[in-house]
Amino acid sequence: MKIVRTVNELKSAVGALKAEGRSVGFVPTMGALHDGHISLINRARADNDIVVASVFVNPTQFNNPDDLRTYPRTEEADCARLGDAGVDIAFLPSVEEMYPEPDTRVFKLGPVAEVMEGAMRPGHFNGVAQVVSRLFAMVGPDRAYFGEKDFQQIAVIRRMVELEGFDIDIVACPIKREADGLALSSRNVRLTPHQRDIAPNIHRILEESRDYYLVLSVDEVRRKVIDAVNAYPEMEVEYYDIVNADDMQPINEWSQCADAVGCITVYLGDVRLIDNIKYNQL
Ligand code: PAJ
Repeated sequence: MKIVRTVNELKSAVGALKAEGRSVGFVPTMGALHDGHISLINRARADNDIVVASVFVNPTQFNNPDDLRTYPRTEEADCARLGDAGVDIAFLPSVEEMYPEPDTRVFKLGPVAEVMEGAMRPGHFNGVAQVVSRLFAMVGPDRAYFGEKDFQQIAVIRRMVELEGFDIDIVACPIKREADGLALSSRNVRLTPHQRDIAPNIHRILEESRDYYLVLSVDEVRRKVIDAVNAYPEMEVEYYDIVNADDMQPINEWSQCADAVGCITVYLGDVRLIDNIKYNQL
């Protein structure tokens, strides 16, 4: 695996391979890699001749300075994992390399970016659009891979791709979970052993709520999930919204869309976990 840190090195490494007519898959990450990230890399390897992965903790998408400061940074272990996973080129730029000038672009992301994470974390999705559009322009991939754990992020990326006119296939990959159901996340290491024991109940409650699809109303299912999670004194739901998977807009009736997704954010102490569940595909 080739490790590159500058845009010039990246462009010449990728350019040489593309000149040979090879297809390029790209997996952007913020590091602290776990099996969820590796599942995206495996999928990218299966679909493409060459895999490029980036590790960059993007300051412009953090609306909370403490979250940016405490975000885990494990560069050496990340490079080892990327190498083992068969990545061809790892791109690990500095902040100065990614942003030689401040990025002041404001993307017209529209309604997909205004609800849920967009409402709770002002500026977050604009920052994601800034960094991913830069990375796309630098790497020039045929396909890029994103996890459904960040379900809304995928809708935002698709919208950014449309706005910027990139000819890149956005591939959505399923959520990778621990054996007990907890969605893998770089933030899980910050849970205390007790919080870690309780956290899988988030997925259990979401999974059980699928039994009520079409049986109870959307709002009844919504309330049931919120109450069941909040019944654990250690957990507090920030939001639980059941939305149309196509446009991220909350629905009132199941009949409003073919693909409904319930997106949840839960605080365990100061650790913010997100997860989601699909209601139609049983
Ligand atoms: P990060 O949180 O590092 O996630 C990188 C990619 O891994 C995202 O597409 C995310 O959805 C996916 N991922 C995380 N946990 C997963 C899991 N348990 N199963 C499957 N996929 C999972 O998301 C970001 O970084 C950033 O916003 C980024 C897109 C890199 C832009 O900075």
